[in-house]
Amino acid sequence: MSETLDRLTDGEPPAEPEPAEIADPKAAAPDESDEPAELDPEVKARRDAALAHVRKFGDPVLNTKAREVERFDDALREEVQRLGMLMHDAMGIGLAATQIGLLNRVFVYRVQPDAPPSALVNPEVKWTSSEEETAEEGCLSLPLVHVDVERPAHVRVEARDEYGEPLLVEASGLEARVILHELDHLDGVLILSKTTREQRKEAMRLLREQQLQPSS
Ligand code: NI
Repeated sequence: MSETLDRLTDGEPPAEPEPAEIADPKAAAPDESDEPAELDPEVKARRDAALAHVRKFGDPVLNTKAREVERFDDALREEVQRLGMLMHDAMGIGLAATQIGLLNRVFVYRVQPDAPPSALVNPEVKWTSSEEETAEEGCLSLPLVHVDVERPAHVRVEARDEYGEPLLVEASGLEARVILHELDHLDGVLILSKTTREQRKEAMRLLREQQLQPSS
């Protein structure tokens, strides 16, 4: 998943938007061929188009708690499909409805690059391990920002799929991290509030430089 890493090299302006919803902590060594600058122009155009639909830092919707989904209808399935396509095109590994301005408790994620996206509707954390791990995360709503976030290493979540069928998800490592990151979005929580003061300060500086204004 090294395409999810944004690597800034000396002297190059940070022109590329952050492609990752979450950077894969195991992909610490960036792969040259996955550098955004070397993306196929068509892929890059699709990614830019998708990112234009993603709400960015400063948009109050990102600080708003989403509502429970009550109707498992075609509109919901269309929303899930749209989220999956935008996540794919944006080269993210997770995307919450709040990030495209829809306050429904729905998100999609995909940890394996070629797997179909999974959708979780009305997800509820039933258990988290006391064991925690710290890893670097990015967010499609926070261009160029990478901060360390401590999260439980294992998680058990109950949810519904887009047809209303109950799901039980037991996840570890990166998958647990993505799920918890997206669940935070549904509660209006961003990674900025889950990292160290120093990293938050640096992230705010990066966001200010991009002229993204805080909402509060
Ligand atoms: Ni995010």
